[in-house]
Amino acid sequence: MKPIKKAVFPVAGMGSRFLPATKASPKEMLPIVDKPLIQYAAEEAIAAGITELIFVTGRGKRAIEDHFDKAYELEVELEQRGKTKLLEQVRNMLPPGISCAYVRQAEALGLGHAILCAAPLVGDEPFAVVLADDLVDAEVPVLQQMVQLHAATGASVLGVQQVPPEQTRQYGIVETEHGPGPIHKIVGIVEKPGPEEAPSNLGVVGRYLLTPAIFDQLRSVRPGAGGEIQLTDGIAGLLKQETVLALPFEGVRYDCGSKLGYLKATVAYGIRHAEAGPEFREWLAHTGLLQHGR
Ligand code: UTP
Repeated sequence: MKPIKKAVFPVAGMGSRFLPATKASPKEMLPIVDKPLIQYAAEEAIAAGITELIFVTGRGKRAIEDHFDKAYELEVELEQRGKTKLLEQVRNMLPPGISCAYVRQAEALGLGHAILCAAPLVGDEPFAVVLADDLVDAEVPVLQQMVQLHAATGASVLGVQQVPPEQTRQYGIVETEHGPGPIHKIVGIVEKPGPEEAPSNLGVVGRYLLTPAIFDQLRSVRPGAGGEIQLTDGIAGLLKQETVLALPFEGVRYDCGSKLGYLKATVAYGIRHAEAGPEFREWLAHTGLLQHGR
């Protein structure tokens, strides 16, 4: 069995829930304290043993490519000013041995379509998909938890979490069979069902390990919910052909594609930030903001 070495980051979406912030700059470059979402996603993938990062980009997403490129002028400037710590940080955005590749999705035709755009770069091997706007705060990075399950079973694995019934419309919802042990085999998956049609309360959240058989499935998927080519519909085809497992992972997930999730993540990461955290925590504890509104 081939180990998972490649991760696809679909970053070609419109980010309409975050307009106007996302009018000229990508949602995935929104910072949580001082690091953009895409950097957290890349670090999580690297921690899981991934060495090839494949970004599916679109119009207005150049900043993501620039973020992972060498920034000559900035480095010279920081060096001249003696800012060695910052220089180290911008020089080491990615550790040695990690490569980046970019492919364009000309039109935002859906997440499934975005993944299909990466097919020539992925080739015939299992791969990860990471949605950077789902930020997961976990002791063992969630992709690493999933890679362990894949290594033990060879199966595709979807990261899932329990979602409140009133939110099933925001997720792909899975139907599972238990066992053996903590393993949940997926027997059905539906995109954005209402609470009455939802087969369970387990929603798929932004992390997937897929075998390359998904590409053939996606080639035959017709536009589904929202007129988009849905990854969920491709997975529904895949699980008729091979085993797909759900991993209810350990960790707190922040939906940073929504304003509320983004604000929560900023506070949670802010209070334990090495430099700003202690003072921010103190300020939060004593500010009269909630009483006075400013
Ligand atoms: P979202 O459902 O969050 O859509 O996509 P979005 O366009 O980014 O944001 P909203 O809903 O308009 O606010 C989930 C992930 O799939 C990617 C997005 O970039 C995001 O990471 N995506 C979605 C694509 O790459 N291409 C698409 O055509 C659609």
